[in-house]
Amino acid sequence: MDPVKISSLELENVKRIRAVQIKPTKDGLTVIGGRNGQGKTSVLDAIAWALGGNKMKPDNPNRDGGATPAKLHVELSNGIVVERRGKNGTLYVTDSTGMKGTQKLLDEFLSQLALDLPKFLGGSDKDRTNALLNTLGIDEQLAALDGQIRSAYQQRTAIGTDARRLRAHADKLPSHDDVPSEPVSVAELVRQQQEILARNGENQKKRENVSRLEWECQGTRQSIEHIDQSIKAAQKQLDEYVRDANERISRMQSEYEEQKSKLNAQLGDLETAKKTAEQLVDESTAEIEQSIADIESVNARVADNQRKEEAVQVATEREQEYADMSATIESLRDRRMALLDGAPLPLEGLSVDEEGRLTYQGQTWGDMSSSEQLRVATAIVRATKPDCGFVLLDKLEQMDTQTLSEFGAWAQSEGLQVIGTRVGTGDECTVVIEDGLVDESREPEPEPEPAKTDWASAWGASK
Ligand SMILES: Nc1ncnc2c1ncn2[C@@H]1O[C@H](COP(=O)(O)OP(=O)(O)O)[C@@H](O)[C@H]1O
Ligand SMILES: [Mg+2]
Repeated sequence: MDPVKISSLELENVKRIRAVQIKPTKDGLTVIGGRNGQGKTSVLDAIAWALGGNKMKPDNPNRDGGATPAKLHVELSNGIVVERRGKNGTLYVTDSTGMKGTQKLLDEFLSQLALDLPKFLGGSDKDRTNALLNTLGIDEQLAALDGQIRSAYQQRTAIGTDARRLRAHADKLPSHDDVPSEPVSVAELVRQQQEILARNGENQKKRENVSRLEWECQGTRQSIEHIDQSIKAAQKQLDEYVRDANERISRMQSEYEEQKSKLNAQLGDLETAKKTAEQLVDESTAEIEQSIADIESVNARVADNQRKEEAVQVATEREQEYADMSATIESLRDRRMALLDGAPLPLEGLSVDEEGRLTYQGQTWGDMSSSEQLRVATAIVRATKPDCGFVLLDKLEQMDTQTLSEFGAWAQSEGLQVIGTRVGTGDECTVVIEDGLVDESREPEPEPEPAKTDWASAWGASK
């Protein structure tokens, strides 16, 4: 159905109003003008009460000094007629077929915010954002994403702090270029030393062999000498025992030869052994002893290097985590952007920043001009209930006439009916209220189609 608008209203004895009849412009602005305290806001209060139910009832709805109680009669563009009358301001609703209805029928197409825009304007950033996101149906998704983004930021900050600390620690640790990459083993050095000692032992054995051979040669020499003496003794007896002794002599001579050649052989061995022994050189264990002595300092420095390597690795891993978290945040923000981009926002330039504040053309609520605030509020309120084709706006005097005219043109182009009040009695006013009555002395409203006002040119002409 077409958005519902207010076709006409007739008010009597409501608050400051004595009697007022208005046919609001169908699209765009209807400005109720007048000096202070003449009953402009009473008109809006009366509409809100008529349509919004008893919770919108003014504290003192019946005009002081009025002969009859307040009487309200509102006709809507969908044919529904709403009345309040009697001393309790009882509600009477009649639909286009003449059937009676109740507040429930009105609530189907009426927006509470449209009747009470100050509630939206004066609310918190959070209230306004919630109103928009509720309308779009993406409030929960966006809140979830924003929660994820916030916690990712927090995590990344913690990781970053940790990574910087780890990197600084790694940078401070000492390192050495002049040591092996692995710690030196005492067991290995001892093993090498033992090998050398074993080889030296072999050498010792060979030296002992020389002594032994020398000793043996000595023995043999003694026995040659003994035999020689025996020969001499035998020769002395030779004359007496020539015949008997001949055999013995020859036997002894051969034994002599035998021993002689044995000695030669032994001397040869001795010579060789001596030469070998002369060539022997003991290896030094000094280097290894030094290594063993140095081992503690070397290993301390090796440990330094290993600690540094580990610290650098830990810091690098943490830095990588930080980079990964940045990528996560980036992708969450992209998703958030896509979510908002994909939602049918009721006004171009409207968005929600990461702190959950509504923005319009990049400005937060506090930085918007009051006409921009009205435009944003109106668009969102409109979107919360597309069937409600009007909003009530008090205190339009906060806008200069130029801005007011632009706002009116925008509302008109949106097919939105705006009924507003403004202090003043100038041409910008559709009607002027004076002492609770429409000032009839002003030029008559164009009849029968006041809705066709061309705001842009009307305002241009008034300057
Ligand atoms: N029930 C009432 N009877 C008579 N006067 C009232 C009643 N309620 C409010 N007023 C008076 O109406 C005036 C304000 O009316 P209002 O419609 O707010 O004026 P405007 O918006 O044009 O400044 C105040 O002087 C207030 O005392
Ligand atoms: Mg007022």
